Amino acid sequence: MSEVRFDNRVAVITGAGGGLGKTYALELGRRGAKVVVNDLGGAADGTGGGANMADTTVKEITEAGGTAVANYDSVATPEGGEAIIKTALDSFGQVDIVINNAGILRDKTFVKLAPDDLKAVLAVHLEGAFYVSQPAFRAMKEKSYGRFMFTASTAGIFGNFGQTNYGAAKFGLVGLSNVLSIEGKKYNINSNVIAPIANTRLTKELLGPLADSLEPEQVTSLVCYLVSEESDITHEIYSVGGGKFSRIFVAMAPGWAAGKGAKPSIEEVRDHIDQIRNQEGYAVPGSIGDEMKLLMESFKE
Ligand code: NAI
Repeated sequence: MSEVRFDNRVAVITGAGGGLGKTYALELGRRGAKVVVNDLGGAADGTGGGANMADTTVKEITEAGGTAVANYDSVATPEGGEAIIKTALDSFGQVDIVINNAGILRDKTFVKLAPDDLKAVLAVHLEGAFYVSQPAFRAMKEKSYGRFMFTASTAGIFGNFGQTNYGAAKFGLVGLSNVLSIEGKKYNINSNVIAPIANTRLTKELLGPLADSLEPEQVTSLVCYLVSEESDITHEIYSVGGGKFSRIFVAMAPGWAAGKGAKPSIEEVRDHIDQIRNQEGYAVPGSIGDEMKLLMESFKE
């Protein structure tokens, strides 16, 4: 069995000072990638900061014979994103892989959520991934090669109590990755999303007795495969954790079509609601164009 290698590849991993991000950094470093270990080094709610977390990951990579540099910028500003990618370009001359992983939590029920809890969570997860990925995409385009990974959550994709801010940010990343994968296609730039589950400082208390069976290292291999040269997968979403790997997709069911030009009444919609809601025979559109094709077909019926 041939080994999946990352020699001559430069990987930027945000939030790689602990948890899931650290496992990606160590694995890619072990397999030959030059790694930029970004971490703000703050608390789980995004407050504070420090060099210690990123430095520790860098030390572990270099002690194992790998190559890595630390970066302590926050992903949550355009300047921070630029500085993170500049660290890769200045240190290693290119950027091939970006794993957007940095994250914080500010869980509260919807009625109790303050504007700052929304803004902080959107800034780190959604804006942060945008600010890091945009300068990286520009550099990747020059070399016609790139691999992006975005970290969503089933809290957004399926829903979870007390996480409206986080769920919105996380599903937002699905949209970002979907468009990026379409724009990146002709430059060999792929983009995918994971919704992981693992025992880290963010989830320790939520997972209870399950925590011991959900190690961060059980997420690492899928992420590393998807950002490798061997994978040409793009525009996809995966659920991963506890040794289980499965695809998540956004699908569209055939529904009910009233026909071209029709303006059905409320009563007609009511009378067809079971057909409109029926999930059987769904398609998975790869773009807005695919959806339009399905609409056009319904005009012919
Ligand atoms: P973690 O707290 O161990 O890792 C997140 C890292 O991001 C921390 O090291 C933190 O210092 C860093 N960070 C936070 N804000 C930052 C900023 N502004 N700039 C740079 N770095 C920053 O937690 P975990 O679980 O490893 O989280 C990794 C990602 O996975 C997050 O995006 C999280 O939302 C996501 N996730 C994790 C799940 C799990 O079960 N652990 C479930 C679903 C999603």
